Amino acid sequence: MELAQSTLFLPLFLCVLFLITQEKVLVSAKHPTKLFVFGDSFADTGNTNKSLPPGAPNSWIYPYGITFPGKPTGRFSDGLLLIDFIAEFIGVKSPPPYRPYILRKEGVVDLKFGMNFAYGGTGVFDTFTTDPNMTVQINDFQKLIKESVFTAKDLNSSAAFFFLSGNDYAFYLSNNKSLSSIPTFMTNVVNQLTFNLKRVYDLGVKKVVVTSLTPMGCLPGNTVRSLFQTCIEEVNHLVGHHNLLLQQGVAKLNTETKKSLMILDLYASFQSVLQNKGDHQGSIEFKNLLKPCCVGTSNTTRCGSVDAKGAKMYTLCEDPKSAFFWDDIHPSQQGWRAVYSALEDSLKQL
Ligand SMILES: *[C@@H]1O[C@H](CO)[C@@H](O)[C@H](O)[C@H]1NC(C)=O
Ligand SMILES: *[C@@H]1O[C@H](CO)[C@@H](O)[C@H](O)[C@H]1NC(C)=O
Ligand SMILES: *[C@@H]1O[C@H](CO)[C@@H](O)[C@H](O)[C@H]1NC(C)=O
Ligand SMILES: *[C@@H]1O[C@H](CO)[C@@H](O)[C@H](O)[C@H]1NC(C)=O
Ligand SMILES: *[C@@H]1O[C@H](CO)[C@@H](O)[C@H](O)[C@H]1NC(C)=O
Repeated sequence: MELAQSTLFLPLFLCVLFLITQEKVLVSAKHPTKLFVFGDSFADTGNTNKSLPPGAPNSWIYPYGITFPGKPTGRFSDGLLLIDFIAEFIGVKSPPPYRPYILRKEGVVDLKFGMNFAYGGTGVFDTFTTDPNMTVQINDFQKLIKESVFTAKDLNSSAAFFFLSGNDYAFYLSNNKSLSSIPTFMTNVVNQLTFNLKRVYDLGVKKVVVTSLTPMGCLPGNTVRSLFQTCIEEVNHLVGHHNLLLQQGVAKLNTETKKSLMILDLYASFQSVLQNKGDHQGSIEFKNLLKPCCVGTSNTTRCGSVDAKGAKMYTLCEDPKSAFFWDDIHPSQQGWRAVYSALEDSLKQL
């Protein structure tokens, strides 16, 4: 009796073991094991220049990072960004920022999870900042591949993420260019962006993800004129043109790259959060949808500004979790969490 039972159990046990190992193989084959991140403040986890002149947007000062980890990390938010939530979803650590790694000032960096090359304020072209544009970010990535910091095998099981939130357009308009001339410029921006996507794919990264533009007419910097009440539809309409061009560009590339490219639809996910006043499941609710938590007290100051005597030139809301936007451009950690929640289904395609 005992014998019979154990012979019955042994194959069962083996079978279960087999299933478990199969499962592990499947998981590691499917999920990217390293992430390479390019772009701007939407994804910058600590690259941005710490010593920009006073008045320039700075994420290395109080109250950036107050929610997590309690001090500035260089992230343009009170805490985590979308890329941090995506990394967690994929089952890897958010990849380390490149500049501290290359300056080798902050100890040993774990390269197991890839690298983050994104710098706040940058675009595909040169913008307001001296930090590297997207071309230079990819050059730096290419250098690390040449130095065998990352191997062909590494790249084979990697995903690249491109976050472009519109600095090229803000810079273009700051040079006295008119809104009506923007569609032509959009073609240049999207052509340069898709060129960059293809370049990283050609370097060997098998999965390439790029964000669409958000409804930028709803950013606090644009809604401040209506005291944070109404989005500027004209701007959202123009954003739609960029997103359409991007869709066409990515569709074209996908015919040459075995469908390796994917758009992460920030436009739809932002709109979903704004319309639901939180996430679609109702587990996150925002008291302030368009009004940012941290905002300058005049149109020449911003979140974190202080005067010559060190006095605050901004106001800070009591509970950053209650606001979708953290400052005049960027979502709060809770805002990004709600956007992530709206994107979760499309991320499963990775
Ligand atoms: C940071 O910005 C300052 C001022 O614009 C510049 O002098 C410095 O070279 C920059 N640092 C780096 C690492 O690019
Ligand atoms: C990116 O920056 C580099 C170095 O400043 C510059 O030479 C290059 O023209 C820029 N690329 C684009 C596409 O603007
Ligand atoms: C990349 O992965 C594919 C299967 O996904 C495999 O056939 C190929 O040999 C791998 N290449 C390298 C360099 O690891
Ligand atoms: C923009 O226009 C203003 C006034 O018309 C002028 O003073 C300024 O120099 C212009 N800026 C640029 C970058 O052309
Ligand atoms: C900033 O506010 C002042 C006074 O309210 C106004 O005169 C000025 O035009 C504003 N500047 C900008 C760039 O909006």
